[in-house]
Amino acid sequence: MMTWNKFLSVEDVQISKDLSSGVCSSSMMETVLFVGPVVHTKKEGMIEILDEAAVLIKDGKIMSVGEASSSLDVKADKIIHLQDGQLLIPGFIDCHIHAVQLPNLGIGYDRCLMEWLEKYTFPLERKYSDVEFANRVYDTVVEQTLNAGTTTACYFASLYGKSSVILAEKASKYGQRAFIGKVNMNAPRDDGYCETTEESLQATTEFINDISNIDNPLIKPVVTPRFALSCDMDLMKGLAKLAEDKNLLIQTHVSENLAEIEICKKMYPECSTYVSVYEEAGLLTKKTVLAHGVHLEDSELEILKNRKTSIIHCPTSNTCLRSGLCDVKRLKSKGINVGLGTDVAGGHSVSILDVMRSALQVSTHLAFFKKGYEPLNYIDVFYLATLGGAKALAIEDQVGSFEPGKQFDALIIDTNKPNGPLNNLSEWTIEEQLQRFIYSGDDRNISQVFVAGHQVK
Ligand code: GUN
Ligand code: FE
Repeated sequence: MMTWNKFLSVEDVQISKDLSSGVCSSSMMETVLFVGPVVHTKKEGMIEILDEAAVLIKDGKIMSVGEASSSLDVKADKIIHLQDGQLLIPGFIDCHIHAVQLPNLGIGYDRCLMEWLEKYTFPLERKYSDVEFANRVYDTVVEQTLNAGTTTACYFASLYGKSSVILAEKASKYGQRAFIGKVNMNAPRDDGYCETTEESLQATTEFINDISNIDNPLIKPVVTPRFALSCDMDLMKGLAKLAEDKNLLIQTHVSENLAEIEICKKMYPECSTYVSVYEEAGLLTKKTVLAHGVHLEDSELEILKNRKTSIIHCPTSNTCLRSGLCDVKRLKSKGINVGLGTDVAGGHSVSILDVMRSALQVSTHLAFFKKGYEPLNYIDVFYLATLGGAKALAIEDQVGSFEPGKQFDALIIDTNKPNGPLNNLSEWTIEEQLQRFIYSGDDRNISQVFVAGHQVK
């Protein structure tokens, strides 16, 4: 045991690689004390800044968080002293990402949603019947998202259950916290990228079992009807029941694009709104995440609030696919919880940092047209990327902030990285360092990434 007058710097720490899993671990799961600046949000609209904190980790869990000066007698096996310009923040949470779509990143933004799906997306997703292709792509997806600081991801995989399990295995191998969804679609299609209701429910049940056989508490299945346009009411009801029986998260899309909403209303004339289709199916729970929600009506927001269902804001995608400007301030004012999603490859980047910036810009653009409208600020998007996302995925008791009893999912941000985008020409407070990172940093400034205490970058 060391007391923390024998500091190790971040660069000195020897990380051993557990070859069987590929996950880096700091030898056995010992006690580790991080000493240095900490920034996190425990509550919406507020950041807590500890200029010189001591965060004690044991078995991947946070034991205590305090001012370093009052923690002088804390004992630990290893002490990691952050260097000048470094700060510790919670890991980023990507609440909506299509792992399968990574190969299409950056192309196809000449089309809006419905055409984009047909021309670019479904042809790509069909390739995942080939497990070798899945293997290659999913390695890259998990490596790239971890590199960008995504400690928790909520993934859409493909229609193919066995191939989708590979994504779960990759997240497990690299040590990411992940929710994985086998996509469900039973609306008939000429290209065969669809299933019958029975096949879809059967394959989803098998998929859930396969994920539980991976036996990693970080990896969970998520029930995934693609959207109301690709599922009928029977399938959605069956999936809702499955989620209820097994107490699982549900993810789907809602009200992303005006043409999509028109089709939804035609397909379900008995339901007055898009949200009421999901309500009728029983899909709206406090463990449901709905991506986009760009064009929701007030009556829909009322339902979502009552159901405690979250909206996942995907501003990069909403701009790339020309879906619209989602008003997060309006959602929040109606009592809706919001998380962030890259929506790769509707969104052009795997980085939640890019999404945070996009959320700021979209909100500012909205303010140009609304008198007295106060746009989101960097503290708001920092919350959305961390604790807001954790709440959406119903894991706020485990991650999203640094509090005793939570898992240590964290990023060491280094604003002094040589060759990084942040210069070092002036002196800044810790809060200003965070602000600079959010507006102008990139993954070069994310020097280390931890999930449940394991170093994964
Ligand atoms: N709606 C249904 N499927 C999709 C998809 O793959 N991406 C996006 N952005 N919206 C969808
Ligand atoms: Fe999506």
